[in-house]
Amino acid sequence: MEEKAIQEMTTGATNGSGQENAGRFRGGRYEQAAASILERINASIGFDHRLAKQDIAGSVAHVTMLGRQGILADADVERIQGGLDQVLDEIISGRTKLLPELEDIHMNVEARLSDLIGPSAGRLHTARSRNDQVATDFKLWTREASETIDVALSELVLALVDKADRHADTLMPGFTHLQCAQPVTFGHHCLAYAEMFMRDRDRYLQGARRLNECPLGAAALAGTSFPIDRDMTARLLGFDRPTANSLDSVSDRDFALDFLATSAIAASHLSRLAEELVIWSSAQFRFVTMPEELTAGSSIMPQKRNPDAAELVRAKSGRIYGNLMTLLTVLKGLPLAYGKDLQEDKEPVFDSFDSLALCIEVMTALVRGLEVNSRVMKQAAGDQHSTATDLADWMVRTLDMPFREAHGIVGQLVRLADQRGCGLADLSLDTLRDFAAGINEEAQAVLTAQYSVESRKSMGGTAPAQVQVAANSARQRNAALDESARARPSNMENR
Ligand code: ARG
Repeated sequence: MEEKAIQEMTTGATNGSGQENAGRFRGGRYEQAAASILERINASIGFDHRLAKQDIAGSVAHVTMLGRQGILADADVERIQGGLDQVLDEIISGRTKLLPELEDIHMNVEARLSDLIGPSAGRLHTARSRNDQVATDFKLWTREASETIDVALSELVLALVDKADRHADTLMPGFTHLQCAQPVTFGHHCLAYAEMFMRDRDRYLQGARRLNECPLGAAALAGTSFPIDRDMTARLLGFDRPTANSLDSVSDRDFALDFLATSAIAASHLSRLAEELVIWSSAQFRFVTMPEELTAGSSIMPQKRNPDAAELVRAKSGRIYGNLMTLLTVLKGLPLAYGKDLQEDKEPVFDSFDSLALCIEVMTALVRGLEVNSRVMKQAAGDQHSTATDLADWMVRTLDMPFREAHGIVGQLVRLADQRGCGLADLSLDTLRDFAAGINEEAQAVLTAQYSVESRKSMGGTAPAQVQVAANSARQRNAALDESARARPSNMENR
């Protein structure tokens, strides 16, 4: 979106020349210009240009409040607001060149404003600091990012629920330790992931709710002597209220940690699903076939169809976890209030957002386009004596045997079947009776995967009827999350 245009714009035009800008905000205190090496470590415009829209929205709210409070004259307010609109327009259309010698997005915007409207621009920073400004911008950005990810997750949940609906009675082996454990249905497996992604949605929504206090007005660290109205700026920017403590306001990055932690958890869910798709699509499993357009060829082996997209989803969890660790480490031991360390907060968040948004989109396409090889899955559902528990349960129920005893007997039967190289269901009734006298034909029937799955009717279980109920419930809960998402502060475009 606009951020792309903004990125390209670093090669654009205007916003003064390098030399004249270098000392522009060093004020009266400095004799020496900044060393170019300082500029290289200090400048954040290379990435914080992504905050342009939020920065200008924050400034518009701030100057509006300054006007209404009589701190600035109406004429200045109008000039500044008009100028800011133009700056945003220029930045989005790529007409302004953003300069590293102006450090960051905040200084670049102010410099361009000053070029456009002259001395009035110098009044914008009254009763404000870059410290509360950047905290506000970053919160606005993170709020929008959470909303964007949440919408994408909602789509992914729907894709999974649709698949579950269609495969509520498609048998497959359920695994523990990646060994066949008990038969389940493919629909049930899909819904397990729908649950995870709905929890992620809830975490993003909660994070967005928690962050929704406005730091603007905390100024550098101590508040301001100007008669500002913090409730007003908070309201204008869609925050629920102003933050309570000025020191905390400028040094808090919990909201970014929330975003990164939630993203890390979501990435772990995506990675697990990606891994299963990789395994299931292998020739040894052949449970699923990935949509051809999401697989890649090999440069040497002409026959290959590799699951690159899923593998990269699996791997990107690494950088997304890393981003959380990066910010935790930046914040560790940082004394109050603001330190320039805090400038290192943005890239991890931007990267997690970009990576995760891409992964969710890819996974949604993978799930939607997934071909399910029901026949192969069904065949495998009964592998490795996966219905042994069903026989033990039958003995408990019908022969009133203690479960431990039944477990022991079925274990012996499994050993015998293995020795004979057959399945439990292939053992004759007479053989079964040698181990437990009461066993009859009914016991043999419970050894089929179909019976096993249909009998698991407990709430949250894998019986097809339950899976249908669960799919409906998931659809409803996902829609309820959509509803609470709509009730949250909408993105800046709408205000
Ligand atoms: N670019 C800075 C950041 O991202 C803005 C705040 C600068 N504040 C300061 N006191 N130098 O954190």
